[in-house]
Amino acid sequence: MKQQPNRRLGETEEGEVTEQVIADLAAVLKMDLAAYKRPQLVRRLFGFARARGIDSLAELARRLRQDAAMGERLRHHLTIHVTSFFRDPAYWQALKTAVTQESPRAHWEVWSAAASTGAEPLSLAWLFYELGLPSQVLATDVDESVLQHARTGVWREDDLEGVPSFVRHQLFEPLPDGRLRVREAFSAAIEYRRLDLLKDPYPNRRFHLIACRNVLIYFREADRLRVVQRLVDCLDDQGLLFLGSTEVLLNPGMFGLATVFPSIYRKTKGVSG
Ligand SMILES: C[S@@+](CC[C@H](N)C(=O)[O-])C[C@H]1O[C@@H](n2cnc3c(N)ncnc32)[C@H](O)[C@@H]1O
Repeated sequence: MKQQPNRRLGETEEGEVTEQVIADLAAVLKMDLAAYKRPQLVRRLFGFARARGIDSLAELARRLRQDAAMGERLRHHLTIHVTSFFRDPAYWQALKTAVTQESPRAHWEVWSAAASTGAEPLSLAWLFYELGLPSQVLATDVDESVLQHARTGVWREDDLEGVPSFVRHQLFEPLPDGRLRVREAFSAAIEYRRLDLLKDPYPNRRFHLIACRNVLIYFREADRLRVVQRLVDCLDDQGLLFLGSTEVLLNPGMFGLATVFPSIYRKTKGVSG
């Protein structure tokens, strides 16, 4: 096979990256890179490296050891942050029904487990406010930089596409520069914290609803199943698990879950963990 001139041994093709170099990068980034789907991961690593004139992943690992800020930027680059308020609206409508019909409670402990810049935890806080149900939302993400944005609570109008104007008015207050800030009543209901779903201990408490949306798709099958099981262990009996629209579980029964709506599940068995 003809070798590309700018590739090194072990990286003759993007699909042939050695385990060792991935392990080196994982160690320096303090991320469980082995759990991410390999082709996407490798594409993003090379994209990041080449944009900086670095032509091998081994060299990238070496540079990262000397430059902590570059490591922070790479972590951000690897974790895709696309999000929006009430993402996949039909699923949010179904969630609302599930909350009122499937699992009625007076107070809701909620976890948004891959919260990105905060649109999801805010959508959850809004949903419970609209239903007149008190709630507390824990919002976590592996990437500190998105959490920093979320904590500011400041948004641009363009980010709120699809949010009805009456919701905007109640959720946000206008700032003099034209941006919008989350009102105190909602920001006070959300706690932001860094948590890696693959590596860190999960919160030592039970939630009534866990949203873990559009992140499992980036994990390999075995890690996806392990994460789902750990999330279920954090659910209260009858608690709800809210996954992304493309993250439907093939066999929810194996986790002690019953399907309420595609991508929305209710825990049917007692707590196992
Ligand atoms: C595509 S966004 C989804 C955001 C939101 N849940 C939604 O559906 O709109 C994926 C988020 O997962 C986070 N993420 C990636 N790997 C993670 C991990 N191992 N643990 C926790 N969060 C992770 C990323 O930083 C990113 O913010």
